Amino acid sequence: MGIVEELKKEFTERFGGEGDIRVYFAPGRVNLIGEHTDYNGGHVFPCALSMGNYAVARKRDDETVRWYSMTYPENGVFESSIRGLEPNDNGLCFDYQLGVIWALEKNGHKVPGGFDMVMKADLPAGSGLSASASIEELAAVICRDLYDMDISMVDCALMGQYSENEYNGMNCGIMDQFASAMGKKDHAIFLDTATLKYEYVPLNLKNEKIVITNSKVKHSLAGSAYNDRRRDCENALKDIQSVRDVKTLGDLSEEEFEAVKDAIKDPVCVRRARHAVYENQRAIKAVDDLKKDDLKSFGELMKQSHISLRDDYEVSCPELDILSEEAWKIDGVIGSRMTGGGFGGCTVSIVKEDSVENFKETISKVYKEKTGMDCEFYIADAADGAGRIE
Ligand code: GLA
Repeated sequence: MGIVEELKKEFTERFGGEGDIRVYFAPGRVNLIGEHTDYNGGHVFPCALSMGNYAVARKRDDETVRWYSMTYPENGVFESSIRGLEPNDNGLCFDYQLGVIWALEKNGHKVPGGFDMVMKADLPAGSGLSASASIEELAAVICRDLYDMDISMVDCALMGQYSENEYNGMNCGIMDQFASAMGKKDHAIFLDTATLKYEYVPLNLKNEKIVITNSKVKHSLAGSAYNDRRRDCENALKDIQSVRDVKTLGDLSEEEFEAVKDAIKDPVCVRRARHAVYENQRAIKAVDDLKKDDLKSFGELMKQSHISLRDDYEVSCPELDILSEEAWKIDGVIGSRMTGGGFGGCTVSIVKEDSVENFKETISKVYKEKTGMDCEFYIADAADGAGRIE
């Protein structure tokens, strides 16, 4: 049985099969390059994935929600009013959805009523492929569609980010929600996070595949270290602003950064800011390379990105380093780097199609030898953003 059929069956058993039952999907994302730039006014280059969260939902005529997740059956049916919600850091899957309902109301888009819903993911949770943003965008499109709410998909992305920042206490940038809401089949999104101007760039790789490798590790410091990195960048920016008029680190070219970096007092913050500035420029160059079909240069930029995330930004971990560094040695690998927030999760690699099998075999073997763990592979399939599918 496919996931949609499973959901419909479960929904009927739990909540009854009558009325206008609708089906929704919101994708996860993989970022090709431009990491930890989205809260520094820089560029990112993610694509939405064909993996994500699915839901079956039906409007209710009161202000209650009844939700059940087939991914977390141990939580049972969750029931709540959509009024009087208070931010919390419980981190349960449904807190991300309530957060969006709360955020919509806070921003002048009060959700008129509740709904019953059953959901299920085909995206591995905690793997750095934005399961949480996908859950947020799922909630946003369900409210939008069930209640004909007048809200754009870009605003759905912003509401997801707002709720994650203010309701769930995670200070993320806009990349993940934007990718989940705005994805386009066979395209990646080149997004300027300072202006939210974006461009869809075709991913017409002729003989190559985008391979995601899941390290299967999630280090617990991810959330707090993320907020620390943000603070380091803000401190660096403040110091730079004492000598130069800039709004964000993304405003600076490499040369401009080198000319002002001595104003940054803390040497750790110098490295953090160097990453943010150079990574933003790498993202801009990489998109240009892709348009010119210069995959070799794109791959080299991916490698530089990983090295900078490892050494200057310090958000990699031994497992992600093994996966990337071993990938660089394999014939037919054009580029490889950690992707997403870091401290575990996945790498993304561009691999020649006829080398994919060898890539998987070699990486699995070395990873097992060095860590004792099994990694997992997914071929990335760039998909459309969140919406109703039936
Ligand atoms: C997480 C955040 C994003 C972004 C990435 C790093 O995925 O949610 O906003 O900052 O890390 O690029």
